[in-house]
Order: sequence, then C-alpha cells, then structure tokens
Amino acid sequence: MSTAIELRQATRADWDEVAALIYLSTNHWYVANGKSAIFTGDPSSTLLFCQVYEDLDPGCCLLAVDEATGTIAGSCFYRRRETHVSLGIMNAHPDHTGKGVARQLLAFIRNFADENRLPLRLVSSAMNLDSFSLYNRAGLAPYAVYQDMILDVPITGIPDEIPAGKTVRDATLSDVDFMVALESDVLGIRRAGDFEYFISNKTGDWHMSVIENAQGGLDGFLASIQHPGSSLLGPGCMRCDEDAVALIRRELHVCRGHTMVWLVPSSRPAIAQAMYALKARNCELHFAQTTGAPPQINGVVMPSFMPETA
Ligand SMILES: CC(C)(COP(=O)(O)OP(=O)(O)OC[C@H]1O[C@@H](n2cnc3c(N)ncnc32)[C@H](O)[C@@H]1OP(=O)(O)O)[C@@H](O)C(=O)NCCC(=O)NCCS
Repeated sequence: MSTAIELRQATRADWDEVAALIYLSTNHWYVANGKSAIFTGDPSSTLLFCQVYEDLDPGCCLLAVDEATGTIAGSCFYRRRETHVSLGIMNAHPDHTGKGVARQLLAFIRNFADENRLPLRLVSSAMNLDSFSLYNRAGLAPYAVYQDMILDVPITGIPDEIPAGKTVRDATLSDVDFMVALESDVLGIRRAGDFEYFISNKTGDWHMSVIENAQGGLDGFLASIQHPGSSLLGPGCMRCDEDAVALIRRELHVCRGHTMVWLVPSSRPAIAQAMYALKARNCELHFAQTTGAPPQINGVVMPSFMPETA
C-alpha cells in the first residue's frame, strides 16, 4: 500500500531530520544489499548536503512528509540550472520503501523540469536496481557509464604527471568564465555559481585545480571535497585523457592521507589504466541519465554527488 504523503519544500527546521534520513536510508540500502555503509562518519556529517545546497540554491530540497505521523518519509534535492534541471541525492526512509514515496518526489521534479522545458539529468548507481528502476520508469535513459574508483591516498601524496607544455595550478575566481565556456563546449551545461562556490571555499572543505596550455588557455578543471560527509573528487571537465590524469593526480595529492572516490568515464579506458597504476580500485558503477535527447560529450566529464552534477 502507498504511503499517504504531502510534498513540501524543506526549511532549516527540517535539516536535522533530513540529514538523519540521508544517513540512515543510504547506509541501510547498501548494508541490506551486502555492501559497505557509504557514510561512516558521525550521523550529523550528512548535514553537509543541506548546507551546501542551501548555500548554492536555497529552497531546493523537496520532502515527502508522512501524513499519518508528520515524519519525513523521503527527501530529494533538485536544482534549476540555466541548461537543465539536475536531481541530487534521493532517499526514502526504510520504513516506507516500496510504497511510492520516491516515485512521487520524482514525479514532482519531472513535472517541474517539463514545465520549464528543460531536460532532467542525474547520475545514479548502476548497481542499485531500486534507483535505476525508479528513474527508468519515469522515462530517464542512461547516456554514459562511469566507474567509481577509490584510493587510500598515501600520506606522502602523489607526484605530479603533467603533459609537456601544460601547467596545473590552483583555480582562481578569474578562471570561472573559462570553466563555464569549457564545460558548455564539452557537456553543454553551464553552472558558474557552483565553481565560484568551490573556489571561494568559505567552509575550508573544497579545492579546485585547472590545467592550462602553452597559450594560456584552460583545458580542464577538477574540484574536490574532503569532509566527513563526502570525500570526492569532482566535478571536473577536461579536453583529453592526459589532462584528466594530471588533474586527478593533483587533487589526490591535495587530499593525501584520506580515502577518496571519483568517477571516471568508462569510455575512457586510458584514464582508468592510469588510476590502476596508482593502485586505485573500482568500487561502484554509475549511469548518467537524462530525459529527452542524450547530450553530445566532447571531452572528459567527471561528475560528482556533492553537489550533484551531470
Ligand atoms: C531508491 C529509493 C529512493 C527508492 O525509493 P522507494 O520510495 O522505495 O521507491 P518507490 O516505492 O517509489 O518505487 C519506485 C518505482 O520503481 C519500481 N521498481 C522497483 N524495483 C523495480 C524493478 N526491479 N523493476 C522494475 N521496477 C521496479 C517500483 O515498482 C516503483 O514503481 P511503481 O510505483 O510505478 O510501481 C530507495 O530504495 C532508497 O532510498 N534507497 C537508498 C538510497 C538510494 O539508493 N538512493 C538513490 C540514489 S540517488
């Protein structure tokens, strides 16, 4: 039987309950399916999701509230961008799974995207048939496969390996326009606000590097976050495999001493080979999915979940 729910936007008063739901629901699913828990820090570490989304795009967390008890049965983050609507982490409470909670959250967001005449895009686990089926039934189709790679980055770090004639350096706010132009060219999306947020790094958790060519043009960028709620490289975007490898090595070095995860396009085996050489292992598979026509990808795309990027 379906759970009777009311859909509403989250307010700051909901944050603790949303964070607890993300932590419980995600870990519950993974452990119940024979895998390791995703969130291993303090349960409050997932407040990170509420905080980052509120900083970037206030009011973009949709809740499904159980009408009978007033408790939160499900939550999902979504954002309207210039080029598309993106969907972030989706959770149903274990007491309510299989009762249409996520379907109703998704229907609201799909409708919002349709009303705005924008595609809905997301990255979801290829190993989680519950979420794959949820999105697939709603009409989203995969257009790219990513392999999640994991590495305990040695405390001594990772030496640079930079292609001849190129430079890798920290990103600055004056790079943002070039990053936006690059990503628009490579993936057809624009999101200047996210890049400004990562580079400004007001919380101290973020880092971002760029790779420049001999003419001073930007050929790639890669962000990373190191926080108890998320240890990820991404988002990133590069012209070629060698630039991707150089940027991954640099961001791993920035995060030395920590266990980091990042998504590599499986259509780019040279990047995965370079990561195996660092002793990285595959830990999951993800699909990028969209409604409507699949985007043309003209380079290397590295999505992330914090915040969601597709
Ligand atoms: C994935 C998750 C959000 C699904 O939430 P849910 O509320 O249980 O999902 P719903 O009950 O709305 O079911 C979604 C739809 O998928 C369908 N479905 C599920 N498994 C299916 C399968 N193997 N084949 C076909 N359809 C399937 C269901 O029948 C339902 O469609 P219907 O209502 O039209 O029948 C939930 O399992 C969860 O929170 N998991 C942990 C966190 C997570 O993995 N999040 C997703 C990653 S972003």
